[in-house]
Amino acid sequence: MPLNLPSVIGHRGAAAYAPENTIESIHTAADMGCKWVELDVKLTKDSVPVIFHDDDLDRTTNGHGPIAEMKYDDLCDLEAGSWFSEGFAGAKVPTLEEAIEIILQRDLGINLEIKPCAGREVETSEAMLDVLSQIWDDRDRLLITSFSHVSLETSMDMAEDWYRGLLLESEPMENWKDLAGYLNVTTINIDGRTASREFIEEIMDTERQILAYTINDQQLARQLRRWGVDAMFTDAPDIVNDLLLKAH
Ligand code: G3P
Ligand code: MG
Repeated sequence: MPLNLPSVIGHRGAAAYAPENTIESIHTAADMGCKWVELDVKLTKDSVPVIFHDDDLDRTTNGHGPIAEMKYDDLCDLEAGSWFSEGFAGAKVPTLEEAIEIILQRDLGINLEIKPCAGREVETSEAMLDVLSQIWDDRDRLLITSFSHVSLETSMDMAEDWYRGLLLESEPMENWKDLAGYLNVTTINIDGRTASREFIEEIMDTERQILAYTINDQQLARQLRRWGVDAMFTDAPDIVNDLLLKAH
């Protein structure tokens, strides 16, 4: 069964207009008309799943060093909005649970990307699914993805029925088709900025849905749409939006 996806998914919320992966960013995406958002999931030192992209705290918070070395209580003291703009001063790194609460409130679908720090591939997936299994029951509005096939394998073992997607780098590994088959993924998520038409056709032959990241340009969005991409992640949902894509 294919997943019923909107053609546009807010990337890290709406990362061009609000600090990525924050509650404020989820609200901004919803306010801009997104029906789904993509968020990255990582663990703190004490294994609390939080919404965060980088291995290090430095780029998007006023903290320093690896997030894997930071306990959740200490993470709560950090601020994750000022780096983006003073208007977002005070934004926090949300827990997965806090983010899901807002997702439910705003009636959104969600793509959770498991983004484990090295060596925590199984643990990150397990912790995420433990939380999710308690607070999420809408199978049709959840897609679990990862570049890590170990994290996806864990997800398959723990929650077989939930939709999974395999994330590919711009240079996909040679065995991506075997992996996609073994992990029984519904979607293949590609770097749409570098993907060729031939590669997209090769994926279409596997009868899996194709999602492309991270598309912030209308012309590229239309081209990928023409080539058969089902949905796109964008930081800028006003530039790449459903209406625009449907009109072409
Ligand atoms: O899931 C799509 C995209 O988010 C993958 O790359 O680095 O932005 O998490 P990244
Ligand atoms: Mg991501």
